[in-house]
Amino acid sequence: MKGDIMKSAAPDSTLAFSAEEQAAVYKCIFTRRDVRGQFRPEPVPDATLARILKAAHHAPSVGFMQPWDFIIVRDMGVKQRIHAAFRRAHEEAAAQFDDERATRYRALKLEGILEAPVGLCVTCDRSRAGPVVIGRTQQRDMDLYSAVCAVQNLWLAARAEGIGVGWVSIIDRDELRAALGIPEAIEPIAYLCLGHVSHFAARPELETKGWLPRLKLGDIVWFDGWRRKSGKESLLSELE
Ligand SMILES: Cc1cc2nc3c(=O)[nH]c(=O)nc-3n(C[C@H](O)[C@H](O)[C@H](O)COP(=O)(O)O)c2cc1C
Repeated sequence: MKGDIMKSAAPDSTLAFSAEEQAAVYKCIFTRRDVRGQFRPEPVPDATLARILKAAHHAPSVGFMQPWDFIIVRDMGVKQRIHAAFRRAHEEAAAQFDDERATRYRALKLEGILEAPVGLCVTCDRSRAGPVVIGRTQQRDMDLYSAVCAVQNLWLAARAEGIGVGWVSIIDRDELRAALGIPEAIEPIAYLCLGHVSHFAARPELETKGWLPRLKLGDIVWFDGWRRKSGKESLLSELE
């Protein structure tokens, strides 16, 4: 099944999802987690990694620009350079919080760079499809957003494969460029840690540790304008 759906170039667009398939999609979305501390050392099989990368490559992109490249990092020396960059950025970050928050910040594990068997840098080539791209004429950042869509596809596909993913953004972009030999013109979008995990937490760690709560969806959905609510909307009761 996995192979069939991936090989078919033009799946039937009318193909409905069965109830089980729908449930599987939502299961994937709701049980996806950012993983930092639970990586296991077993390698990720090439076939699994290939499926995850294909899912990323099938993300939507502005003007079908597909601005992404994927740099797979397995070399411990390269990982150590990236980890050193993380440590520097992490120190700078801690200094930006007030005393109590800084102590709690330092206690969080915010990366799994050395433990995760696979590192993966997703980049954005801002000139990939030439100077004028459908959909990017007014909003230049749409290429960056497209690359982020690839990350999300990857994250969900990995979850379906039982592979944990952790996004490490506490790294200076130029240091990441230097560690991976990424040219100046290419934008690093995400450095991700991938691997089998001992478990997926039921809820985000920042939620369970009391850093921030999940917002109530009903408090951030509006109708016909910024922060407009009529009070009569039946949708609101469905959001609880
Ligand atoms: C753009 C982006 C950058 C992130 N950077 C980091 C990071 O540097 N370190 C970290 O531990 N988590 C990072 N995260 C993970 C978030 O903290 C996490 O997604 C959030 O707390 C919700 O948890 P969940 O992904 O498990 O649902 C990042 C997530 C996103 C989307």
